[in-house]
Amino acid sequence: MTKVIGPPRPLLDKIAQQLNLPVGKAHFGSFPDGERLVKVEEDLAGETVLLVGSTGPPVDSNTLELALLADAVRRAGAARILAVIPYLGYSRSERVSPAGSPLACRVIADLLSRCGIERLVTLDLHASAIAGFFSIPVVEVSAIPILSQSLPKFRAGKGVIVSPDAGGIRRATHLASLLGLPLGFAVKHRSSPTQTQVLELWGELHDRDVILCDDIISTGGTLAEAAKIAFQQGAASVVAIATHAVMAPGAETRLKEAGIKRVVVTDSLETQIPWFEYVSAAPPLTETLRRLI
Ligand code: R5P
Repeated sequence: MTKVIGPPRPLLDKIAQQLNLPVGKAHFGSFPDGERLVKVEEDLAGETVLLVGSTGPPVDSNTLELALLADAVRRAGAARILAVIPYLGYSRSERVSPAGSPLACRVIADLLSRCGIERLVTLDLHASAIAGFFSIPVVEVSAIPILSQSLPKFRAGKGVIVSPDAGGIRRATHLASLLGLPLGFAVKHRSSPTQTQVLELWGELHDRDVILCDDIISTGGTLAEAAKIAFQQGAASVVAIATHAVMAPGAETRLKEAGIKRVVVTDSLETQIPWFEYVSAAPPLTETLRRLI
């Protein structure tokens, strides 16, 4: 038998429902000193377990909680553990930059690879090469097809997909090919975690409806800067799609002030921004999980 387990969250329920699987009982809390407290409250002997969790904010606590849950599930006798972690925290620390920094993404990958998880299913990794940091197989599912279905209609011949940085060109190319639209991209410089500068924007943007396509919205600086330059270059409108709405404080205001009128994101994280359009990542994730189980 297969069961779904994890800290309570809507995406877990949707995945369990769509796969028609029971949700296993577990308790999540804290010890008085702040350490995470996790307890599996049913027999999982011989079961295949889909461990669904988030490593979104608070990233450190959620990540450790998942690792502890995986260990508890393994000790409860599960035969197989497939982890579904749509958003991978620390994924932007996938290189040592600036010098003197840790390769944090690798540290997280080591932790998650060593707690009993057999395979990891995730959504739009910041960089696909991150899969190689894990010593377990990683299956990366793309949210671009479902996000593309929620985009507004554009004036014929006027739409253009823009990647707000060089790292996102692969995702933006995927979207552009699905929609049959031309592609542009920005050259971005990040001087600190909160300071982003778009140096240049390539592509024909005059009188165009621009669709910015990114993986993560954190401070909102990347999308806001790209939108500002797009308007300076004559764009008629700017909308944005992104897989993971991390939404650090101030991000919503930054996007609004930059004139971005619509933002389409997935429910990989629990942030709720009233004017955002949320599409569920459950269908593409369950399609992959069905094949794996
Ligand atoms: C960076 O390389 C990512 O692809 C995103 O562009 C970035 O994480 C967005 O962060 P922020 O919203 O803080 O600019």
